[in-house]
Amino acid sequence: MTDILTQLEEKRAAARLGGGQRRLDAQHAKGKLTARERLNVLLDEGSFEEWDMFVEHRCHDFGMEDNKIPGDGVVIGYGTIAGRPVFVYSQDFTVLGGSLSETHAAKICKVMDQAIKAGIPIIGLNDSGGARIQEGVASLGGYAEVFQRNVLASGVVPQISLIMGPCAGGAVYSPAITDFIFMVEGSSYMFVTGPDVVKTVTHEDLTADELGGAKMHSRTSGVAHGAFANDLEMLMRTRELMSYLPLSNREEAPSYPSHDPLDRPSAVLDQIIPDNPNTPYDMKHVIAEIVDDGEMFEIHKDFASNIICGFARIEGRSVGIVANQPLVLAGCLDINASRKAARFVRFCDAFNIPLVTLVDVPGFMPGLSQEVGGIISQGAKLLYAYAEATVPKVTLITRKAYGGAYDVMASKHLRGDVNYAWPSAEIAVMGPEGAARIIFREDAADADALKARTDEYREKFANPFVAAGRGYIDDIIMPRNSRRRLGRALAMLKDKELTNPPRKHDNLPL
Ligand code: HXC
Repeated sequence: MTDILTQLEEKRAAARLGGGQRRLDAQHAKGKLTARERLNVLLDEGSFEEWDMFVEHRCHDFGMEDNKIPGDGVVIGYGTIAGRPVFVYSQDFTVLGGSLSETHAAKICKVMDQAIKAGIPIIGLNDSGGARIQEGVASLGGYAEVFQRNVLASGVVPQISLIMGPCAGGAVYSPAITDFIFMVEGSSYMFVTGPDVVKTVTHEDLTADELGGAKMHSRTSGVAHGAFANDLEMLMRTRELMSYLPLSNREEAPSYPSHDPLDRPSAVLDQIIPDNPNTPYDMKHVIAEIVDDGEMFEIHKDFASNIICGFARIEGRSVGIVANQPLVLAGCLDINASRKAARFVRFCDAFNIPLVTLVDVPGFMPGLSQEVGGIISQGAKLLYAYAEATVPKVTLITRKAYGGAYDVMASKHLRGDVNYAWPSAEIAVMGPEGAARIIFREDAADADALKARTDEYREKFANPFVAAGRGYIDDIIMPRNSRRRLGRALAMLKDKELTNPPRKHDNLPL
């Protein structure tokens, strides 16, 4: 018996060594943690339960029968983050470059199947050279098996992809389906075709970082929801994100004891709106005054910053914050802001996280590039997302709410539950000057007359009272009381019930 126990320990030790000390050292030399070290940081100490440590590939081509490493390049299992369960898979670059074989894929699918059944989130740590070249189509089949499960898990359990090394070719499509993608600066990249192919086809000479690095994807393409300086920071921040998310769509948003009084007044908000309606202010200051302890976990912080999306807590319970940012592009809704916020709203709705929307939007972004890029269907995504959402929706208009953008931003007409405005709100079809130029065209050439007409329009419509008079705004509130008023609304809505008509699935404007 003792022999068998010793044998087991020896086999385990061999599996833990992955591709061997030389390759583990090479991984460290690149500033990267190993697959197992990453799990040690991500999960609570001692909580990891590993599965399939002894699985080996079944390939016999190209001498592969002599190149078997237990575990086959991916570490799978489950553990806890702050005591709450999570399934994980962590690709081991030291084993055949973390490449995906049939058995490697089967291991990933095993934890995904269990995650869906048990209602537990799945976090994938990606560090892979892609399809196992020696296995050919078996590897492609393995990828498709993973994609299929990503789709089935979507909206059932949160799925998070951590890109911690190469992720190229068709391999990118598994993360692309998941809810959040985070990348490590300098050591991770994602692209459909690499620099060599790009150079041959389009003659563009690019580095891997330029073509698909963390900065590019977190700022320009929007493929990544965040970029972090190193493995450690990413893993710690992922732990933080998990604290805002339910384990599955069967659960309510998590809640924790809050020590931040709901009736904490915020006198600073009474002064935050500048006298000149065209002067910007930082909406993040408003958010910080409203949420518990001023804390928010921002999603897509560096992408489409004209809209802010993030998770926060009010009275200890998770909320999704969506807010126009007057500091960037005057808070206009453009293509990128619309698709960023639409996906965030849909995530919150899928996972029972109430939505708090702060509105200061002059309208949709005008221009040829926006029309050519399809602002019509892209903007419709956000409208659609808000309109289909059945979670509690609480909206506060701080200043501008003009045109179609008023409708889109969780208005009463899109089943907003509680819609408040500050006295500084301007709710109308368009800004006073544009409106005066159109309806008083005869005065447009005369600057004084136009100013008088603009003031007249502003006086009449650029305020919250017309909308409040119709019940589109439930109350005009003192800015300093915003936290209390929004918090009470959310508490009132805690057991809200609303369902959409039955159908196979909707057909949102993709
Ligand atoms: C098998 C692979 C591999 C792969 C790397 N390795 N990629 N083995 N299949 N796809 C092995 C290497 O042979 C090497 O083995 C070890 O992993 C480390 O690789 P290095 O090249 O030494 O590492 P590095 O210099 O850091 O370069 C990493 C890399 C490069 C950029 C990822 O390895 C690379 O270009 N690999 C091929 C990438 C690729 O073309 N993948 C297929 C893409 S198509 P030893 O024994 O020396 O340690 C695809 C389609 C998916 O993925 C479609 C899904 C629908």
